Amino acid sequence: MPATRVLTGITTSGTPHLGNYAGAIRPAIAASHRPGVESFYFLADYHALIKVQDPARVQRSTLEIAASWLACGLQPDKVWFYRQSDIPEIPELTWLLTCVAGKGLLNRAHAYKAAVDRNREAGEDDDAGVTAGLFMYPVLMAADILMFKAHSVPVGRDQIQHIEMARDFGARFNHLYGEHFVLPEAAIEESVATLPGLDGRKMSKSYDNTIPLFAPRNELKKLIFSIVTDSRAPGEAKDTEGSALFQLHQAFSTPEQSDDFARAFADGIGWGDAKQALFERIDAEVAPMREKYEALMAKPIEIEAILREGAIKARRIATPLLAELRYAVGLRDLREQVVVAKAGKAKAAMPQFKQYREADGRFHFKLVAADGRELLLGLGHASPREAGQAIARLKADAGAGLREAAGRVVHLGEDAMGELAAHALLEEVAAALAAFAEEGA
Ligand code: TRP
Repeated sequence: MPATRVLTGITTSGTPHLGNYAGAIRPAIAASHRPGVESFYFLADYHALIKVQDPARVQRSTLEIAASWLACGLQPDKVWFYRQSDIPEIPELTWLLTCVAGKGLLNRAHAYKAAVDRNREAGEDDDAGVTAGLFMYPVLMAADILMFKAHSVPVGRDQIQHIEMARDFGARFNHLYGEHFVLPEAAIEESVATLPGLDGRKMSKSYDNTIPLFAPRNELKKLIFSIVTDSRAPGEAKDTEGSALFQLHQAFSTPEQSDDFARAFADGIGWGDAKQALFERIDAEVAPMREKYEALMAKPIEIEAILREGAIKARRIATPLLAELRYAVGLRDLREQVVVAKAGKAKAAMPQFKQYREADGRFHFKLVAADGRELLLGLGHASPREAGQAIARLKADAGAGLREAAGRVVHLGEDAMGELAAHALLEEVAAALAAFAEEGA
């Protein structure tokens, strides 16, 4: 069974927090250990530029996120781990997709629509303050996904629409130019925790209620002690339902540990003790990784080397695919005159063999390109049958033994077959013959 490719991008616009860890990093690394899975993780730094226009912050975040994933156990030799901006094929593919993406579909993207709605409410022009980058966000994301033929993209609910758009652009491209892309599916993990933040709302940078994953121990403790609770006194039973403290604890404990904590709530544990227990639980999981993280952060040279290595590995996939796509859309080597439409509805015109008899009484043939130019002038044969056999051999084994000898005589294996026409190239003849092979002629 071919491997399932799973791909995730992480925008390099901030510092990873506990919510990112429990919701994305931890499940992704666990998934990468499953058999039959090929995992692609990349730092979406081009996406970061849409939101962040502070260069130092983009750089810092890229380093922090790379160090975080490595510290959490990502094995760069077992997965594809790279930085988006190290893959020049991604922006190139973005353009190819831009040319098939419906503008109307992009108008309906949630992030863009939300910006328009805000503007309308404020009585501004629809597009006030909206960059073309924000508008094009889904196309860049589609390029990320389609480039590596990902089957499955684990995302939060807010990103489902983007995966659907990637499918739409990929399908349109396939329809126009042949089957090049795998259409991805969004994978929504119901079991994965969404963590509450310090104020009880979903932990998110936009609410400013996060706990950094690798905050130093003291700071982690301070932040945990600042989590909002109700005013019940020690000795009073506490609700686990809706308690941010309890949910955070659950995300870092076994079911038994969580049951114990629930009993302590029922028995009226004081909030101070509960916070201390939560701190110890989280720190037990995070501390060994924090040590690795700090060591990695002190060695940016190593991280840079890992990412560059990752880019080389990723480009082994991206470079040939892009060459294929460039050819498919017609960005082609001009020396190559033969057009073989792989998927087009109208089949491209084929080169042709023409047979004729010369004044010397012998039977000749020539290979003529679709545009009428002569490519190969065959030798004279004693009978039409022999000329026909020569043509059949050229059609059948051209790929193998075609070569050009002195005087522009073309050989197939040992035999001289004919002469290159005045302006033709040997490669052109080979490509024309390959067109017959492709036809199954
Ligand atoms: N848009 C994603 C986010 O904000 C990040 C991202 C960029 C991504 N490219 C991707 C996610 C490709 C999955 C696949 O979280």
